[in-house]
Amino acid sequence: MSSYNSTIEDIKSRLSIVDVISEYVSLKKSGQNYKGLCPFHSEKTPSFMVSPSKQIYHCFGCGAGGDVFTFLAKYETLSFGESVEFLAKKAGVTLKKTYSGNAGKEGKELILAINNEAALFYQRALYQNPAAIEYLKKRGIGADAQRVFQIGYAPAKTDALIAHLKNKGYKADDIRKAGLISSGVGGFNGTFRHRIMFPIFDLKGGIIAFGGRIILSGQPKYLNSPETQVFNKGSVLYGINIAKESVKRLGYALIAEGYIDVIALHIYGFSNAVAPLGTAITEGHGKLLKRFVDNAILVFDGDEAGVRAASNAIGILFEGGLNVKVLPMPQGEDPDSFLRHNGKEAFNALLEKALNIVDFFLMQNVDKTLAARRTLEAVSKAPDKILQGHYIKRLSERLGIDEVFVMEEFKKVTRGERGRKIGKAGPPHAGTETALSKKPLPLEETYILQILLNFPEASGQVFAIISEGDFKNPLTKAIFKKMKDITTHYDALLVECEEAEKGLLTEISFKADITDYEKVLGDCLNRFKSKKQKVLLQEIQEKIREAEAKKDIGMLRALQIEQQRLLSQRNISSNL
Ligand code: UTP
Ligand code: MN
Repeated sequence: MSSYNSTIEDIKSRLSIVDVISEYVSLKKSGQNYKGLCPFHSEKTPSFMVSPSKQIYHCFGCGAGGDVFTFLAKYETLSFGESVEFLAKKAGVTLKKTYSGNAGKEGKELILAINNEAALFYQRALYQNPAAIEYLKKRGIGADAQRVFQIGYAPAKTDALIAHLKNKGYKADDIRKAGLISSGVGGFNGTFRHRIMFPIFDLKGGIIAFGGRIILSGQPKYLNSPETQVFNKGSVLYGINIAKESVKRLGYALIAEGYIDVIALHIYGFSNAVAPLGTAITEGHGKLLKRFVDNAILVFDGDEAGVRAASNAIGILFEGGLNVKVLPMPQGEDPDSFLRHNGKEAFNALLEKALNIVDFFLMQNVDKTLAARRTLEAVSKAPDKILQGHYIKRLSERLGIDEVFVMEEFKKVTRGERGRKIGKAGPPHAGTETALSKKPLPLEETYILQILLNFPEASGQVFAIISEGDFKNPLTKAIFKKMKDITTHYDALLVECEEAEKGLLTEISFKADITDYEKVLGDCLNRFKSKKQKVLLQEIQEKIREAEAKKDIGMLRALQIEQQRLLSQRNISSNL
């Protein structure tokens, strides 16, 4: 590589870009630079500039630009390597190796060249195989899409491909490094046989690997190239080279699950579609997308596996700084089948209803508490505090619970996250008072005190429905009792309090985070009620065990009915 660069530099230093370009374009001096009519687009006033000091050219009309090599490559339609050879001769530099021939390529460049040659071979093979064309046609993939995605066909017998590549000057060992053949008994075997071939591109359109689908049925349905020097499955998105411009323009990427889904989406005009290569979404995918956009919509099968994959993907993409919405496909459909059955407009309608992640998690058929926790876990991954706040607000609205409680749960989740990240910290030492080891006060108890302090008008209502018997914590219980018996006025109350109570009272008086006290009061009452129910349920569970031990069927029945009744009354705010 370095000798390659030094050769390039050597040639550049021996040639003047002005001299080289002057052979093709008439240039006039203009200040430090030279000016002329651009050879790459038609114009009447010169906007083509050449800078001798920087050794570059640029056209302010059409945007073409580069150095002496790219100029020549473009003007003479040469490959970069060929333009190096051409100019080396002109500069009197002898090249140690050829730059345009196969032999000159090494490492990654060589693999890309081999893959490219193989892709051309597969495309020609497709045109010669009516059955393969017929299969694609049946799947709605016509000539245009075949061309754009450079789709091909790998014949059942692979000797023709190997012969072709060898004929082009590639060594068997290098073809193996590209993942197209593997050594087996009696020589090399082709990796892909009797498959529709989808080249997998890097951002610049270089072919880094292939995905091959078996025609009709067979195992495995899809086969990918093995990982090579240029192919790392976990950070590639199929279709990104084609989709990147529309992703930027539209402001979001559509993430589908499969090759054919991506192709179908593009055919129907959803040109911002990409897909991982049959793997879960990774950090690498997030990073790749983040280069172009801040938003993504996950389109996935509406089945259980799809939902699970989407749930995981949300957290990972959040972590990468992307905001995500989700679009579950109707049961039994993927984007490809959906588009063919229902058309573009129907898919557009689905897109418009893509779910906010809160709605997505709450839609799952699980306990609301669990759904809320999953939401908060995903939200905690987002680096953007404003976005976090947005989702917390949304979640509290959806649950009908005041934000302060959701926030408290969110803090628990983030604390847990941090704990997990630190690793096996183990339980905190007894006696060392850390924020973590201190048992948190029951939220509903401190909020009742806060309501009484800040909203005197609420006191009548509160004292009518809550008594000190509802309080578990001795400190909050004592303060509550003093408020009820003496005063809710802060200064007067402070005089009445013990040291520990004073500490808590001042803390609470600083914390004025309630705006809608009626709402919070309602939530507090629910929590008191649910905690009571929890205790009752535990008692019943204990009695059920006793009744079972005594084989008292009558008692057991009665207890179970009571247990069912309590369970059905349980509300979610108890656990939040
Ligand atoms: P699907 O099984 O959903 O297939 O796999 P599909 O994309 O709908 O394909 P068609 O419509 O039946 O042709 C989704 C993706 O998982 C990967 C592929 O990337 C596929 O596009 N996959 C699937 C594999 O890598 N290997 C397999 O054997 C199957
Ligand atoms: Mn499909």
